[in-house]
Amino acid sequence: WPRNSARRDGTIVIAGADVRDLAREYGTPLYVVDEADFRSRCRDFKAAFHGDDVYYAGKAFLCKEVARWVDQEGLGLDVCSSGELAVALSVGFPPERIAMHGNNKSPAELERALRAGVGRIVVDSFDEIARVGYLAEELGVRAKVQIRVTTGVEAHTHEFIATAHDDQKFGLSLGSGAAAEAVRRVLALPQLELVGLHSHIGSQIFDTAGFEVAARRLAVLLTQIKQEHGVVLPELDLGGGYGIAYLESDDAPDIKPIADGLRQIVSRVCEDAGLPVPRLTVEPGRTIAGPGGVTIYEVGTVKDVEGLRTYVSVDGGMSDNLRTSLYGAEYSCVLASRSSDAPPMLSRVVGKHCESGDIVVRDVWLPRDVTAGDLLAVPATGAYCRSLAHNYNYLPKPAVVAVRDGVSRVIMRRETEDDLLRGQL
Ligand code: LLP
Repeated sequence: WPRNSARRDGTIVIAGADVRDLAREYGTPLYVVDEADFRSRCRDFKAAFHGDDVYYAGKAFLCKEVARWVDQEGLGLDVCSSGELAVALSVGFPPERIAMHGNNKSPAELERALRAGVGRIVVDSFDEIARVGYLAEELGVRAKVQIRVTTGVEAHTHEFIATAHDDQKFGLSLGSGAAAEAVRRVLALPQLELVGLHSHIGSQIFDTAGFEVAARRLAVLLTQIKQEHGVVLPELDLGGGYGIAYLESDDAPDIKPIADGLRQIVSRVCEDAGLPVPRLTVEPGRTIAGPGGVTIYEVGTVKDVEGLRTYVSVDGGMSDNLRTSLYGAEYSCVLASRSSDAPPMLSRVVGKHCESGDIVVRDVWLPRDVTAGDLLAVPATGAYCRSLAHNYNYLPKPAVVAVRDGVSRVIMRRETEDDLLRGQL
């Protein structure tokens, strides 16, 4: 639950706003964001990585207002498409604090990023090194680049969000020598300035040992680069991926000890090799945006399957939270419209899509008297829910409301049928 929230009298109060009032005012399904929670997590990262750089990973959740919060909190921004870049630039986000990612950035996207003057481009392949080199020369600019390295670390998370093993689309492999070859190619192009190495081992990771192994391997590559080329790279980017609690029973890692551990390892390896310690960069997305978001749904139908469970259908589903169906992600939820003393029933909260895998919460104990018109609140939905939302079955995407000191305001309005039909001939 968001830091500034409480369960009270059968409902949830987020930053001073009763979710029943929010549902009445803005409709459901509704994404609610505790602004102070988001901002305080930006500050936690800045404090833990004091002296290093924190880039918020916009893919977790980005809109104009969020870009403003990130800017005001003094973080950088990681974008991975022209669209994400457009959101940032539209609110005057300083381009030098933007990093551009992606395994298949188009020439048009790269050109836009170079023209805007983004702070760094994280190159992901040999094709891209050549492409950025060509475009930078055409535009007469010198592009700052980091090389995305796959370090071979096995991150213990879902296959779809593990990104450090060799057999996958991202990055240049350390083990095969591709990363070292990428360094040679970048250094051979005068219009590229190699500022550092980058690694992102995966997402929703609880076992932090993987970050440390990746950091150590990258630090070793830094020393090899110095030996082979006499070049000292100033930056080491360790990506994002720190896990958050989705269930009461989850014990998410604290960021401060992770930061301290990473810095120690990198310092040790570099000092042993006689290298200056590089500035670290991290790119948290979920850890900043996730915990402060809550989704509110209204119950429509309830169906009891004798002896098994009860299906509680809500007015959204896999179009506003794809994570359960895509990754088998686990969520919980509570009744948020009233108190109930009814005995618990094993429930599955499902959406309204034409798909039996359309599940929001796989297993949860809800009061037996849950009925049409009740509200359910699903916590920890601030990251990768609105940003992964889609329009399957022509459902309009829900609004996002930010709450601060008891005052709520729409930061992304609910889509309308006109939005859905726009652009069709
Ligand atoms: N940096 C890079 C290069 C990334 O690819 C990502 C996430 C991040 C940083 C931020 O990772 P975070 O701190 O948020 O874990 N849709 C999936 C997550 C995909 C993550 C993709 N990359 C999910 O809902 O779990």
